[in-house]
Amino acid sequence: MSIQTIGVIGAGQMGNGIAHVMSQAGYDVVMSDVSQDALNRAMETIRKNMSRQVSRGKMAEAEMEAALGRIKTTLDLADIGASDLVIEAATEREAVKQAIFEDLQPHLKPDTILTSNTSSISITRLASRTDRPEKFMGFHFMNPVPVMQLVELIRGIATDEPTYKACLGVVERIGKTASSAEDFPAFIVNRILVPMINEAVYVLYEGVGNVKSIDEAMKLGANHPMGPLELADFIGLDTCLAIMNVLHDGLADTKYRPCPLLTKYVEAGWLGRKTKRGFYDYRGEEPVPTR
Ligand code: CAA
Repeated sequence: MSIQTIGVIGAGQMGNGIAHVMSQAGYDVVMSDVSQDALNRAMETIRKNMSRQVSRGKMAEAEMEAALGRIKTTLDLADIGASDLVIEAATEREAVKQAIFEDLQPHLKPDTILTSNTSSISITRLASRTDRPEKFMGFHFMNPVPVMQLVELIRGIATDEPTYKACLGVVERIGKTASSAEDFPAFIVNRILVPMINEAVYVLYEGVGNVKSIDEAMKLGANHPMGPLELADFIGLDTCLAIMNVLHDGLADTKYRPCPLLTKYVEAGWLGRKTKRGFYDYRGEEPVPTR
């Protein structure tokens, strides 16, 4: 299977990062979203992040312009149809993802590989509702996509070997490392990482520590590059909560119950960096802990 054109659905923080690394590796990219504003913001973000790479000598200016020129944006899902590989990176809600695959299906080439960047939803279930479960798999990037080395590749129960090999080839071409995970709730990284974040929220909820002491403890005491609450804000508290719910429902174990304080922040619309407020308030010059 030769892959040259990659369709990216969703221009949010994951979608624009995926478009960035794919175009940088020489793939033609078609990025779609339902909002023109989101597409414009995504292109600005990609330019800003690539410029940072240029200023640090990691990319030549001409390479950046060529890569940006390989990204096309569209509001029409039909334009994704001609892609050899589709990576869906829309909102982490199963109904949304399912509706996208349904709308996309009539426009696809018969041999297009479909993948989802879902951080936790069953690949087998998403695949079973498409016309090509054998050509469907999980293609899970970490945030920030241009920096993080790992991609989790998740085979659904029906995924065939050529599909896996083709996706592995893409991961290698973009210079990242693939880790193969079985299709169980939240796969490997989030199965371990998000319960740790949830536990940090419990530590906050129970008053064992405050935002600053918890983050400092894990940065200085466990050498984590970001404290768990800072990381939660970075990932998005809605995404963290969605992942905890998938673990709780999918594994039916109370150890995965989402912390009520995490739920409260999400209810408040304090979703982290993207809404400028979460465990920290980002509206000023410096992030200020909210507890
Ligand atoms: N695009 C391109 N380059 C970027 C970038 C971006 N968005 N963000 C940072 N960089 C680059 C910087 O230019 C810098 O490059 P050099 O090494 O060449 O100088 C490098 O990354 C480090 O950046 P900074 O110096 O600005 O900041 P830092 O040292 O504090 O590192 C970080 C930032 C890499 C984000 C680091 O804090 C980190 O690793 N945090 C943890 C991230 C993490 O755990 N991600 C996984 C989240 S879980 C997930 O994504 C899965 C899911 O489904 C929820």
